[in-house]
Amino acid sequence: MSNFKSIYFENDKLVLINQTLLPIKEEYIFTDDYERISVSIERLEVRGAPAIGIAAAYAFALAFKNISNPDDEYFKKVFNRLASTRPTAVNLFWALERMKKIFIANKQKESLYKILLNEAIRIHNEDIEMCNKMGENGLEIFTGETTVLTHCNTGALATGGSGTAFSVILNGYKNGLVKYVYADETRPLLQGSRLTAFELDKAGIPFSINSDSTAAFLMQKNKIDLVVVGSDRIAVNGDAANKIGTYNLAVLCKHHNIPFYIAAPTSTIDKNCKTGDDITIEFRDKKELNSFKGVQITSEKYNVFAPAFDVTPNELITGIITEKALHKPPYNFSGV
Ligand code: MRU
Repeated sequence: MSNFKSIYFENDKLVLINQTLLPIKEEYIFTDDYERISVSIERLEVRGAPAIGIAAAYAFALAFKNISNPDDEYFKKVFNRLASTRPTAVNLFWALERMKKIFIANKQKESLYKILLNEAIRIHNEDIEMCNKMGENGLEIFTGETTVLTHCNTGALATGGSGTAFSVILNGYKNGLVKYVYADETRPLLQGSRLTAFELDKAGIPFSINSDSTAAFLMQKNKIDLVVVGSDRIAVNGDAANKIGTYNLAVLCKHHNIPFYIAAPTSTIDKNCKTGDDITIEFRDKKELNSFKGVQITSEKYNVFAPAFDVTPNELITGIITEKALHKPPYNFSGV
């Protein structure tokens, strides 16, 4: 487990480490306001597919803290606000649907807030368990001392527990199977060079940060044994959406004959998406590319193309690690 807390619930407040400030500042947001949590998700103060779902579940519960006999209009307002924060990570909608079911079954009860809170805590605890299981199931991908490359951030900051791909790396390291990690910086919001580096450092795992465009060079020089990343939504056929630049890595792996793995809990599988074509891709504000920390770095008048995610087709994925198993192709997640 990590030696810092990224998301927890205490004294009727959700506590989130502000990920936009890491690793320079470790500052926490304390709030019982679902609107403030919605804004945190939008700003990426809390991000990573499972963590977004967990934050939204707590936010949903908090929205009913001081409300007795809530009407359907209020419920819809809360649900739609939280569901509008980010479109790609299906864990958000998965968690909200769970909360909705509990709400519908208990909306007349005086103890509604407590009941909703218990469900949010259950979602959080289940995620911790799923992270541990992914770490265990992922051990199979290592055949000896391994140098791993990863993209974006998939650890304790992105989940309720030890992570998705990060949990696999961490467990591999603890078992003497991971000797070095290369962390893609992950343009433009630097989840790799800020957040994965922060987590690798805290865990004592030897690593380097590299620019995203260095991955091909590293592979050409035989520096990378395998790639493992997370996912924000997996279609039934195994096509997997993840941080923009993930697809590039999968194509590079194919060219260099390097295994390419995804690690994600089953809450990331979307049975409504038959293939990756059905996955909604988030587009981000142009200022995330044309400026840096508020400083304009190119002309404001230029068009910007800023998808936050891409989809890696299943045929490029060597295996998908969930809390249940290491799944091998051909993938069919309709019964998972
Ligand atoms: O935009 P972000 O930082 O929320 O994107 C996160 C990722 O792409 C992660 O790799 C993904 O959520 C899977 S790991 C928890």
